[in-house]
Amino acid sequence: MIFQNSLEFAQQLDAVDPLAKYRNEFYFPKVNGKEVIYFTGNSLGLQPKRTQSYIDEIMSDWKELAVEGHFHAKKSWWDYHELLAAPMAKVVGAKTQEVTVMNTLTVNLHLLMVSFYRPTPKRFKIICEEKAFPSDQYLMNSQVKFHGLDPDNAIVTLKKRVGEHFWRTEDVLEKIKEVGEELALVLIGGVNYYNGQVFQMQQITKVAKEQGAMVGWDLAHGAGNVALNLHEWGVDFAAWCSYKYMNSGPGNASGVFIHEQYLDRKDIPRLEGWWGTKKETRFLMEPEFQPMENADAWQISNPPVLSLAPYLASLEMFEEVGMDALIKKRDTIVRYLEFILQEIGKETNATFQIITPKERGCQLSVLLHGQGKELFKYLMDNGVIVDWREPNVIRLAPAPFYCSYVDMFHFGQILKSGIK
Ligand SMILES: Cc1ncc(COP(=O)(O)O)c(C=O)c1O
Repeated sequence: MIFQNSLEFAQQLDAVDPLAKYRNEFYFPKVNGKEVIYFTGNSLGLQPKRTQSYIDEIMSDWKELAVEGHFHAKKSWWDYHELLAAPMAKVVGAKTQEVTVMNTLTVNLHLLMVSFYRPTPKRFKIICEEKAFPSDQYLMNSQVKFHGLDPDNAIVTLKKRVGEHFWRTEDVLEKIKEVGEELALVLIGGVNYYNGQVFQMQQITKVAKEQGAMVGWDLAHGAGNVALNLHEWGVDFAAWCSYKYMNSGPGNASGVFIHEQYLDRKDIPRLEGWWGTKKETRFLMEPEFQPMENADAWQISNPPVLSLAPYLASLEMFEEVGMDALIKKRDTIVRYLEFILQEIGKETNATFQIITPKERGCQLSVLLHGQGKELFKYLMDNGVIVDWREPNVIRLAPAPFYCSYVDMFHFGQILKSGIK
């Protein structure tokens, strides 16, 4: 498609966008009385209008039924989490029994490392990307120390080549082979939070498995954004938050994937709690732990229904639309955004360097050569919500659920007027 940097052209794209009607399903904050152009769905997705009714349902059941709500609420609370498994499995390419929802992301990665990071004197190293999201770095460091190991020795970071802004798959694979028999675990953010790179998860998983290692993916920036096929790829485990592309609200619950092959393994350690025991016998209150036969065996506490409700509302929308349609629009809107950046660059002589490689999802990370934080502030003051990362990178993530092509055009015009 040959793009044009004009309002009419953007309007035409919106007119034929099958997802355009979903924009109306979300609340947009306002700046100067106008709805913002929202580029930070990679940080916190917008609130779907239907979410309120899911929360209200629980509040009203609680008001009217109190403890009886556990079994007699419209959607009973004791097994509420089960409602999320099937739609969540579709988003990440899993079998329903391989996913569950509980806790928050970093907590879940800790719990999964308890099960899947089992260092031995010979095989104890973890490979992760350099400058991984800080919480992941703290997670891995503390896990390694918990096992009495030295992070400087046990954690191997994947480096980018000098002068480059992304990881080359061949370098990743080579490092995995080099660490070889010492490699216990590969744990990488499947979509990098800073540069927006989508790692070649299938290939990396395959090569790491060939080395005898476990493979986990932090999919904070992947779930609801990119095509995932965790079961087929043979990924051992994964976890994601739901508040970014999945629009479930601030700090909300995390999804977990555990490959089917581990669901009946008695030799895998796990931190356990009563919601992981078989539901048929759970309320007999017996001392023996009898694990559920699905990923729910990793559940610890009874489900926090007030936070699962918004996630369920959001998953219902993912069910309606499907990842294929979202990805199709994502690719077009991201290409249009890239085109707009190039056009504004030409018109203003500014250099916008997109550091996101072609393996990308929704996010473009843009180095603003010669422009500083003033430009970021100008955008924010003028109703463009973006995010700033040091030294001078803005991250733009036009979430296909609610961003429009006209947004991209207007963004270009505002950007142009902010360039000094
Ligand atoms: C890649 C990545 N990993 C982990 C986290 C931490 O998530 P949480 O605070 O929900 O544990 C985030 C949060 O933004 C993230 O982007």
